[in-house]
Amino acid sequence: MNNLVYSNNLFSGTREELVQILKENLSEKRFQHVLNVEKSAIELAQNNNGDIERASIAGLIHDYAKERTDDTFISTIKQKHMDPDLLNWGNAIWHGIVGAELIHDELGITDDKILTSIVKHTTGDVEMELLDKIVYVADFIEEGRTFPGVLEARKKAFESLDAAVGFETKHTLSYLINTNKRVYPKTILTFNKWVAE
Ligand SMILES: [Fe+2]
Ligand SMILES: [Fe+2]
Repeated sequence: MNNLVYSNNLFSGTREELVQILKENLSEKRFQHVLNVEKSAIELAQNNNGDIERASIAGLIHDYAKERTDDTFISTIKQKHMDPDLLNWGNAIWHGIVGAELIHDELGITDDKILTSIVKHTTGDVEMELLDKIVYVADFIEEGRTFPGVLEARKKAFESLDAAVGFETKHTLSYLINTNKRVYPKTILTFNKWVAE
């Protein structure tokens, strides 16, 4: 999809310009990851009659803020009067929820669907629209992923996006529990919606 032309004014420049911004802002490894997520997101969008351009942009920018300092996130939460509970969390939660604010301000991307998919990409949510599911699942199945179960996740993703959302949520929650990590409450709500009977 390297010849994809942006024509809907969701981003002010070309795809190549957006890719260049990411190259400058991310480590080589994460840059490769976002290119892979874009590729998977486009494939999932094609498979589900989704918006290809939004899938490309959201896939590319979903981790835009991932390598920013804690101080950047903390000052953004305070400046924008975001939920103060966010201060109790860290990069894993911030780079999506607070990252969407940085994307809005720094990249000039104002499209609600794209920004919401960034907000929801690590925790999922009870309410998830098609693009939210696409970004959430693409992040999990992109070709650089090697965790046990990734083949099953990829297969599910192209059979049923909803089932893939559930599979991923269960995998993530199990990982957090098994490694004694704190669980962001929304992740539990996502589990209750997409996994629990
Ligand atoms: Fe992320
Ligand atoms: Fe990611």
